[in-house]
Amino acid sequence: MRLLRALLRSVSPATIPQQVDFYCRFSPSPLSMKQFLDFGSDNACEKTSFMFLRQELPVRLANIMKEISLLPDNLLKTPSVQLVQSWYVQSLQEILDFKDKSAEDAEAISCFTDTVITIRNRHNDVIPTMAQGVIEYKDHYGVDPVTSQNVQYFLDRFFMSRISIRMLLNQHTLLFGGKVKVNPAHPKHIGSIDPKCNVVEVIKDGYENAKTLCDLYYMNSPELVLEERNVKSPGQPMQVVYVPSHLYYMVFELFKNAMRATMEHHADRDIYPPIHVHITLGNEDLTVKMCDRGGGVPLRKIDRLFNYMYSTAPRPRVETSRATPLALSTESVERLPVYNKSAWKHYTANHEADDWCVPSSEPKDMTTFRSI
Ligand SMILES: Nc1ncnc2c1ncn2[C@@H]1O[C@H](COP(=O)(O)OP(=O)(O)OP(=O)(O)O)[C@@H](O)[C@H]1O
Ligand SMILES: [Mg+2]
Repeated sequence: MRLLRALLRSVSPATIPQQVDFYCRFSPSPLSMKQFLDFGSDNACEKTSFMFLRQELPVRLANIMKEISLLPDNLLKTPSVQLVQSWYVQSLQEILDFKDKSAEDAEAISCFTDTVITIRNRHNDVIPTMAQGVIEYKDHYGVDPVTSQNVQYFLDRFFMSRISIRMLLNQHTLLFGGKVKVNPAHPKHIGSIDPKCNVVEVIKDGYENAKTLCDLYYMNSPELVLEERNVKSPGQPMQVVYVPSHLYYMVFELFKNAMRATMEHHADRDIYPPIHVHITLGNEDLTVKMCDRGGGVPLRKIDRLFNYMYSTAPRPRVETSRATPLALSTESVERLPVYNKSAWKHYTANHEADDWCVPSSEPKDMTTFRSI
């Protein structure tokens, strides 16, 4: 009987398109680092988090689901993109099942936390699956500039949306998913955020791990020369409020690239110029600038590096060709895509032809621009 009542109450999959249309009319609410910190500190309240998430998650999910549905038909119909879409549908449905639950219902709140964990796990493989969809599309239909531009626009927003949703899911899970609120390995962390993230330590960690891989593969590796400037608090260690795993991931990828380029470019000389990293903590931002002598990338190919459709393993790119500013202050606020008329236009505008010349063949001799 209880099951029957639960089934009757649950949101039917058939109504999901209407739910998406309804929730995508709301704009997501970007949170600031300070809000994440305040919320996660001593007075963290599962009930408040429950009430916020059951409204905010459908809004963030619906906004991006609307954009998925506007992808070129042939891409949308690939089995991989269908699979990703079905995960979003199911997750939206599961969250909406809590819409009418009382915030005083402790059992519902605990069940909600389990659902958040299920959703987080369900979406673990979204990036490789989406990449697979793009590959399936490319194999069948090739690449044209209009689709490439649409996919680029979509994936930048899709990945940003996914990071933002996972951040919400992770914070809720880390704060309320276990028996104890405090992570024994990192007692000072608020969920996944380290209020005193030691930038130099994380960067050195990224270097060391990339170096281990490089040593294994090339039997040698470039040294690291690190320069720090703490303009914000001179003489103090560089500390920012940040998710250390995000910073680690970005620099680790950059180090791997820099090491590979350096090792390949200097293979015949057996002397490998070091990788220079300049870290500057200003009053507002932290800037990490990485320079290698790995030969750089020709200007002609720069755009390609950031184009998902040209890559063999599409996924979010971090910039290597210039200093990477990471807004890390407590004032920094999430940057979230919102589905609206101008987003809609990106997918539906009828581009008749590419408005830039594309060279028909690769030039034989070109001055190359060294990446910094
Ligand atoms: N520091 C660099 N110096 C020279 N070329 C670079 C540098 N960084 C990137 N590249 C070029 O850009 C390409 C794309 O880099 P990217 O990190 O996106 O993919 P990848 O390194 O080939 O594969 P992976 O997905 O494992 O990182 C590289 O294959 C390389 O040709
Ligand atoms: Mg790489």
